[in-house]
Amino acid sequence: MTLVDRPLIQYAIDEARAAGIKEFIFVTSRGKGALEDYFDHAHELESNLKKAGKNDLLDTLRSTNMESGAIAYIRQHKALGLGHAVWCARRLIGDEPFAVILTDDVIMGEPPCLQQMIEAYQETGGSMVATMEVAAEKTQAYGVLDVAEDMGAIVRARGMVEKPKENPPSNLAVIGRYILAPTVLGNLNKLKQGSGGEIQLTDAIADEIAEGRDVFGLRFRGQRFDCGSKAGFLQATVAFGLARDDLKDEFAEYLSDVLAVRKAAE
Ligand code: G1P
Repeated sequence: MTLVDRPLIQYAIDEARAAGIKEFIFVTSRGKGALEDYFDHAHELESNLKKAGKNDLLDTLRSTNMESGAIAYIRQHKALGLGHAVWCARRLIGDEPFAVILTDDVIMGEPPCLQQMIEAYQETGGSMVATMEVAAEKTQAYGVLDVAEDMGAIVRARGMVEKPKENPPSNLAVIGRYILAPTVLGNLNKLKQGSGGEIQLTDAIADEIAEGRDVFGLRFRGQRFDCGSKAGFLQATVAFGLARDDLKDEFAEYLSDVLAVRKAAE
């Protein structure tokens, strides 16, 4: 899916690169071959743009190029849940802390959300999830933190529940950014089914707490868009369009015209 002029996946890569991450693993599935082609170098297109003197486009294209050997692709053969998707990458991740980005959660933030998390994680260690307050009735769409200690921007969790149907432990929802200790992969080895019959990453993180290891939530600074929903994707398009120097004036004028016409019709 394209947000303004780049696929969502590019926003995730840019955010991870800004946080200093240099190696990437995509967990994909059947029919997603275009993803590999997207990150390949487009030599023919590059030389055509060069010949045509289209240097701006050339720069944009080159900024998406990835170093050879920096990306690996792993197939998740069955859609068994987010925890299972992460587990599929276990051999590539090995025994070191790793970050997870759910690319349908797009976050506009400065510094980018994952960088904020890495800065916080350097102080806390353990595992860390991005979190934000949501309305009580919305908690059932998210992983939800049970808070042991609220230190302001950072909270220490004493539990995590995936999509609680009732009695959510707080209104702090987990958003799709994680920094995880490799022991989470060991927890995923149990492959136990959780909410919705799926293998949940939330449950494997909750197991960390049960086993006495630290899990924190960071109330990140920024705005999150759920691009997995139609309304969220439209909102992201407006917000990211208005944030672009080359588009904002024309786009803002268009939006205010649309709103004026709508208001006049009311
Ligand atoms: C996933 C996670 C959930 C998290 C959410 C954030 O759920 O399982 O814990 O709160 O992403 O977007 P999904 O939205 O894939 O159902």
